Amino acid sequence: MISLREVLMRAEADKVAVGHFNFSDLVSFNAIVAAARDRKLPVMVGVSEGEREFTGVAQAAALVKAVRDEFGYPVFLNADHTHSIAHAETAARAGFDEIIFDGSALSFDENIKQTKKAIEAIKSINPSILVEGEIGWIGASSAVIDKVPEGVGILTTPDEAKQFVEATKVDVLAPAVGNMHGMLASMVHGNVQKRLNIERIAEIKAAAKIFMTLHGGSGTNDDDFKRAIKAGMTIVHVNTEIRIAWRRGVEAGLAADPNEVAPYKILKPAVEAVRKVVSERLELFSSK
Ligand code: 13P
Repeated sequence: MISLREVLMRAEADKVAVGHFNFSDLVSFNAIVAAARDRKLPVMVGVSEGEREFTGVAQAAALVKAVRDEFGYPVFLNADHTHSIAHAETAARAGFDEIIFDGSALSFDENIKQTKKAIEAIKSINPSILVEGEIGWIGASSAVIDKVPEGVGILTTPDEAKQFVEATKVDVLAPAVGNMHGMLASMVHGNVQKRLNIERIAEIKAAAKIFMTLHGGSGTNDDDFKRAIKAGMTIVHVNTEIRIAWRRGVEAGLAADPNEVAPYKILKPAVEAVRKVVSERLELFSSK
């Protein structure tokens, strides 16, 4: 099967992005895979440390393997926001395709030091795993939040990106370019949208010269998404929008019939709600 590196190289050449969606249960996992298969697009699925504590590390890897084996489908598994080398090693042994070592809360020098150690540990288990590093603070939770977390909004500079990439040799870089994890209530219920600094993305791409990931995709302006992808973002992460769709779907499923007790019947609207979000985002990310 085609490797994640090859999928990213093709996406980069075509100036499109590969969608990355988080899951923590079978509802979201199946919905993401169904949406990608409908659109015949490769897709990345991710589990953060919290999400994989819930799914199980080996279990998440087994789900992805099952889809690949059954359909020969290019679905790739990412260990999202991994904060310790021990957790990175566990994911590497379980067969993940990508591991994000997230040292963005550390000082710049400490982030470089820890990311280098993580890469050494991961690549000694499996050299084909892609390792992503993060610089700049964009918040930490895929949740509906009251206010922009302190420190968010300071952009990564092209110099920092170049220095970080050269020192660590990461395969993929996640910079801060106006993006933020989570959604403000005004983004969920109103018409406020996240806006990105496209010029800075292009400058960072020119300096870093490696694949780049846009984190914190939920609630981003559609046109900014398209321009960010053209400027050099090859992976785009979306999580909060999926969690909101999941919750609304579960609520609708429960409300539909108070006597219904079959989970697969109650959860059907949740699968459909997540599938719709993923499908729309994939269409946007893959449009040329
Ligand atoms: P959002 O929850 O803001 O979409 O961010 C997701 C993300 O970047 C996961 O790594």
